[in-house]
Amino acid sequence: MVARRTLGILFGGRSAEHEVSVQSAASIWRAVDRSKYEVVPIAISKAGKWTAGMSPLAVLEVGAVVPEPEQAQDPACALAGVDIAFPVLHGPYGEDGTIQGMLEILDIPYVGAGVLASSLCLDKAMAKLVFAQCGFPQGPFLTFHRNYCRQQPAAVLRAVEDQLGFPCFVKPANMGSSVGISKVHIPDRLPQALELAADYDSKIVIEAFIDGREIECSVLGNEQPMASVPGEILPDAEFYDYQAKYVSDSQVLIPAPLTPQQVANVQQLAIDVFTAAGCSGLARVDFFLRNSDGQLLLNEVNTMPGFTRISAYPKLWEASGLAYSQLVDELVVLALERYAERR
Ligand SMILES: Nc1ncnc2c1ncn2[C@@H]1O[C@H](COP(=O)(O)OP(=O)(O)O)[C@@H](O)[C@H]1O
Ligand SMILES: [Mg+2]
Repeated sequence: MVARRTLGILFGGRSAEHEVSVQSAASIWRAVDRSKYEVVPIAISKAGKWTAGMSPLAVLEVGAVVPEPEQAQDPACALAGVDIAFPVLHGPYGEDGTIQGMLEILDIPYVGAGVLASSLCLDKAMAKLVFAQCGFPQGPFLTFHRNYCRQQPAAVLRAVEDQLGFPCFVKPANMGSSVGISKVHIPDRLPQALELAADYDSKIVIEAFIDGREIECSVLGNEQPMASVPGEILPDAEFYDYQAKYVSDSQVLIPAPLTPQQVANVQQLAIDVFTAAGCSGLARVDFFLRNSDGQLLLNEVNTMPGFTRISAYPKLWEASGLAYSQLVDELVVLALERYAERR
């Protein structure tokens, strides 16, 4: 009999998406094939304190948040004995290359994108610049440092009026789950939207409003990635904000009602973007399908998308013929493959 390998599930974390991570980790926890893997949970509190041995189910029993431990563990100690890591962490300090870099240093194979792809995709400003360079279709955007927004508000307003118009979207470069994002309808509201975004990051992205449908596609693989059937988000709000994502009744249509040609375009662009960003394992690539002309526009790449049983990423795979537990299994295999390849 082959010895079972130890799979460490890292969850919680310091980002605003802590609660989402706990939910995702609980779903993964239940789905791992125990005949193949021994599972070790590693809980990370909002303050960034690590505790090995507290399962996501135990965390859910006491609330949705990892309790602050009285005595924190050293991260390297918490990871001792872990053969493969599954960092089910969203946003800063989880999806941004920092944990990935630590796992590289500790020489532990891990699920998902590596250091550069993670940090690139979490930084909307850098990602947009790189994707523009690749020639991928995107809506008009501007990026600013928050200091510039504070010191030159009139210049920022002029640039927005000249190049984007209203409504526009103001976003911190490095968040997720719509945290810190505002839809700004009139110039008067721009300063407060910029201040909100500046609370979360020093870099701010402003985008022209795209009147279109929201389409998502799940990608799985390493150097030969596959794309799932696309889905369509029907936000139960003016846009897909935090509330609409996790609290109210937003729907995802799976599969998205698209023509075969549109499906092929979405899948091809999703794979091209995944490859250009240097992703591995998984990513959900999000698009807009503009109403006026049917143009497909790239919105963003999530290298660790929500992963509960009802999240779009696994749901899209389910509709493509890959069940949740098989997906989890495949991700671990891909992590080991990538690790072996890099050695
Ligand atoms: N330029 C835009 N035009 C129209 N809607 C947008 C635009 N940018 C963002 N949105 C809306 O805001 C939501 C969140 O924005 P997104 O860039 O995906 O950030 P996050 O990383 O937080 O998911 C999108 O799902 C969409 O509903
Ligand atoms: Mg998004």
